[in-house]
Amino acid sequence: LNISLIGAPTDIGAGSRGASMGPEALRVANIVTVLEGLGLNVQDRGNLTGPHNPWLPPVDGYRHLQEVAQWNQSVHDAVYAELAQKRLPILLGGDHCLGLGSISAVARHCRATGQKLRVLWLDAHADFNTAALTPSGNIHGMPVACLCGYGPDVLTHIGGQVPAIEAKWVRQIGIRSVDEGEKRLVHSAGLEVFDMRYIDEMGMRAAMELALALVDANTHLHVSFDVDFLDPDIAPGVGTTVRGGPTYREAQLCMEMIADTGRLASLDVMELNPAFDVRNKTAEVAVDLIESLFGKSTLMRKTR
Ligand code: ARG
Ligand code: MN
Ligand code: MN
Ligand code: MN
Repeated sequence: LNISLIGAPTDIGAGSRGASMGPEALRVANIVTVLEGLGLNVQDRGNLTGPHNPWLPPVDGYRHLQEVAQWNQSVHDAVYAELAQKRLPILLGGDHCLGLGSISAVARHCRATGQKLRVLWLDAHADFNTAALTPSGNIHGMPVACLCGYGPDVLTHIGGQVPAIEAKWVRQIGIRSVDEGEKRLVHSAGLEVFDMRYIDEMGMRAAMELALALVDANTHLHVSFDVDFLDPDIAPGVGTTVRGGPTYREAQLCMEMIADTGRLASLDVMELNPAFDVRNKTAEVAVDLIESLFGKSTLMRKTR
């Protein structure tokens, strides 16, 4: 398995500065050597470049719309190029607005190869806002909506087809903060959400069994991992912490069950913000979990 790391050092879609330092913090936490330790071939492609963060207030419901579009275009191009070379791209964010560029490239790749796409969105937030619904104007709260066609042309057209994906291809896990208007759109669009209430009542195992149901040999599995998915006790290094997230062990089970499918084909690691971190511990937790996602296990297990 050949892996390509793509750094996207920007906080252009976020409500606080610092996610631009995420890619380097993940490298400092040894993401390359950890993946190589699993026997994977890893190429670090370095960092993309794009407009600096002008830190302006929202205009018509969007902060930095043109800059967000530019960053997403270069993420799209870089991710698509790696997939076309049969490599597994790992996008090192950067804020979660870039999930739009990444997943629109993955969707284009799936159209070209005739694969089914399943997107696992691991997050405290649904990121399903629109300009009319957003309380903040921050576009990192909008990428899933844009992917499903609810958004401005400059964002919805990036992958060459609108909508880039269908809501029914998405499973959201760990959700615990959804804005009032956003809730209505999540329901009307038919997003499948395993929120923290579900995980509390049914357990991570049941949630993941359903989230991974019908993933087969022709499925491209994309994981978009917003580090604020994790409980802030173990992952304080993010801009938008929400209490009550998965524990270390719950998150690890989630990753292990994804690994067991053998279908993981692309990954985003987003919203890590070293400005809020404590001695890089959030980056280290993220790298631990990525190790499980790529198949680290305690004992040999029967393949399912
Ligand atoms: N729902 C809030 C908003 O739209 C927070 C979004 C946080 N998103 C994220 N990727 N951390 O402003
Ligand atoms: Mn989030
Ligand atoms: Mn593929
Ligand atoms: Mn997010």
